[in-house]
Amino acid sequence: MENTLRKYFIAGNWKMNKSTTDAEDLIKSIVSEIGKQIDVTVAVCPPFTSLDTVSRIVENTNVLLGAQNMYPEINGAFTGEISPDMLRSLFCTYVILGHSERRAYFNETDEFINLKVRSALENNIKPILCVGETIEERDAGNTMNIVERHVVKGLAGVSNDFAENLVIAYEPVWAIGTGKTATPEMAQEVHHQIRRLLSNQFGEAIAAKIRILYGGSMKPANASELLDQPDIDGGLIGGAALESISFNKLVEIAIQKSA
Ligand code: 13P
Repeated sequence: MENTLRKYFIAGNWKMNKSTTDAEDLIKSIVSEIGKQIDVTVAVCPPFTSLDTVSRIVENTNVLLGAQNMYPEINGAFTGEISPDMLRSLFCTYVILGHSERRAYFNETDEFINLKVRSALENNIKPILCVGETIEERDAGNTMNIVERHVVKGLAGVSNDFAENLVIAYEPVWAIGTGKTATPEMAQEVHHQIRRLLSNQFGEAIAAKIRILYGGSMKPANASELLDQPDIDGGLIGGAALESISFNKLVEIAIQKSA
């Protein structure tokens, strides 16, 4: 990264895993090893059911809390949904939005994701906007078009005042949970393009401060070379975030690179 404007950011997306008891065990192991470090931004995003438990354990540590989704309205008749106010009351700093699993299985559109991104920012929660192509889209040579659509539509109407609170995660769908990682060069090419799009919308100075994470089978064995790329500012980690040994190791790799 070699960039003093952007601290590395390692975030764990626990997806639909961990009972409340298992979540408690995992976060305790994370906090006991890396809860005090300040070189790297660290966040965990448990399922809604464990947010309260995890929130109490990360209090007074440097591990931040994120949610995996959010509804854009503040309250009302939206059965089964969770609002930005509810997340803030549990001290969530971040919310993952537009994850490819939500796009694919729950038919979330760029327009709906954009409503959530703007609502999160207006309600003081930092969105981690996920973007990325499927294997069919990559094979057809459409990677950059898809990523551009996700970024431009996802961030439509976001003003410069809020832009520094954004985090983008490039997650090629074909690399998620498959063990196939984008090569550092492939990922860097897309991250560079994303930064160019951010620069078009917010100007170069703000774009230089927004962190762009890589996600998709990132683990201790491949993290170092990914994090060495100039526009890769961290990772959004799925499988390797479910065990404290691998998650803490990823944080340690990022700490070493920050020195
Ligand atoms: P994996 O690390 O399991 O590939 O998942 C990545 C991801 O989807 C994080 O949001």
